[in-house]
Amino acid sequence: MASDIIAIYPGSFDPLTNGHVDIIQRGSGLFDRIVVAMLVNIEKAPLFTVAERVEIAREVFGRYPNVEVDTFDGLLVEYARRRKASVIVRGLRAISDFEYEMQMALMNRHLNPEVETVFMMPAEPYTYVSSRLVKEVVALGGSVTNLVPAVVEARLREKKHARETLKA
Ligand code: PNS
Repeated sequence: MASDIIAIYPGSFDPLTNGHVDIIQRGSGLFDRIVVAMLVNIEKAPLFTVAERVEIAREVFGRYPNVEVDTFDGLLVEYARRRKASVIVRGLRAISDFEYEMQMALMNRHLNPEVETVFMMPAEPYTYVSSRLVKEVVALGGSVTNLVPAVVEARLREKKHARETLKA
């Protein structure tokens, strides 16, 4: 009997966008289990703590029986090995993503040839959405409605309010 196909969807998710949500939904239809794996030690200072990022993703995907939210540190392929995952999922929005993604996929294949990277394209409305731009737009007073889950929008507003109150 063929064993379950477990996929890891790794990233910073600072914060989760509707582009990420779209990829996770597509992945949950393709694989037996998809593990949304949040990198703990992001190089740049994150806006959301890892606990907050996990809480948000669990709130969004709580009702998906084959979506799991977890954290990881260290080498991604080692985490995949521990989780018995044979697939790494990455989203590709545009050609500009390709070079970095190809390098990562080939480095991961060099480190562990048994794990295959699968690229998925998000729905067109999300091809220009990135966590970095979402944070910038909110910090400058713009709206990100429909670009991130409602819980993320609310949390972004809370963070902005907290920062403004501290400054005042
Ligand atoms: O959403 P991001 O920030 O583009 O995700 C990047 C991530 C977390 C997938 C990448 O930084 C990663 O896999 N880090 C773990 C460290 C690792 O395994 N490095 C070598 C693989 S190229």
